[in-house]
Amino acid sequence: GGGVEIRPRTLAEYIGQRQVKESLSVFIQAARQRHEALDHVLFHGFPGLGKTTLAYIIANEMGAGIKVTSGPVIERAGDLAAILTSLQQGDILFIDEIHRLNHVVEEILYPAMEDYQLDLVIGQGPGARSVKMDLPRFTLVGATTRTGLLTPPLRDRFGVMLRLDYYTPEELATIVQRSARLFQIEITGEGALEIGRRSRGTPRIANRLLRRVRDFSDVGGHGCISAEVADRALDRLLVDRFGLDEMDRRILLTLIEKFQGGPIGLETLSTAVCEEKNTLEDVYEPFLIQSGFLMRTPRGRIATQSAYEHFNLPFRTGNAYQG
Ligand code: ADE
Repeated sequence: GGGVEIRPRTLAEYIGQRQVKESLSVFIQAARQRHEALDHVLFHGFPGLGKTTLAYIIANEMGAGIKVTSGPVIERAGDLAAILTSLQQGDILFIDEIHRLNHVVEEILYPAMEDYQLDLVIGQGPGARSVKMDLPRFTLVGATTRTGLLTPPLRDRFGVMLRLDYYTPEELATIVQRSARLFQIEITGEGALEIGRRSRGTPRIANRLLRRVRDFSDVGGHGCISAEVADRALDRLLVDRFGLDEMDRRILLTLIEKFQGGPIGLETLSTAVCEEKNTLEDVYEPFLIQSGFLMRTPRGRIATQSAYEHFNLPFRTGNAYQG
């Protein structure tokens, strides 16, 4: 929103994910040299790490068009057929949350990906007939949180699989500075780093926090976002020193105070904190695990000693974590 485009448009402008960028750059150059469509690409990684941004960059770098959709939106075979037949040679079809395609739609995708063939059954019963059509050579770019969520036949049809990781605070600071420049927000290097440290490794969160911190800074009458201004605003936004937000803290404190640190199952945790299991698994837990506050064990989730220390709570031996 706001009219300013902050998505980077080229790989050169894209910050972080060095390995992914290096690989993509080679595959894009090779496809361009051969005047071919790029092989199908699957991105996997947690929400907000740049999967959609990279799909747009691929289209831009290939000089191709792009159609953007998502797994749950494509309900019937005909919906996908309409999209596929509207593509031009070399176009990118981006399907976000591709693991959420239903199996009827998914089966249309197999021959489309493999042989650029559309196989459709039209009508029902004795009058039903099958139509086959050639499709232009296109590139499917799929995005999912975990490759394990895809069925093997779908997963196997991607020639390129790339994993996006959490960003470092320094990378996030660079992204924040770039966004600040585009929005004409004044920020110091230390201010950007403070936001970078507290954005859960995620550019989408860093850009959101930048806008909220700017609100505090504008209203407070500061010209520029310094480390102190950022720090005070982030405290008021209830984002703590480690970037944990209210739900992160609620998850850890629930584990510690109601369940003696665990282990407890996902179902129980989900009920106790009033949050969807999928959101816990794909959004909150990965960051808490990465930060060393939570562990997944065969018997369930447990709070680590660092989690107790984070809240200045005594860590008792005999907690599940020990054994
Ligand atoms: N904005 C969001 N993610 C970005 C990234 N990885 N590089 C540059 N700008 C971004």
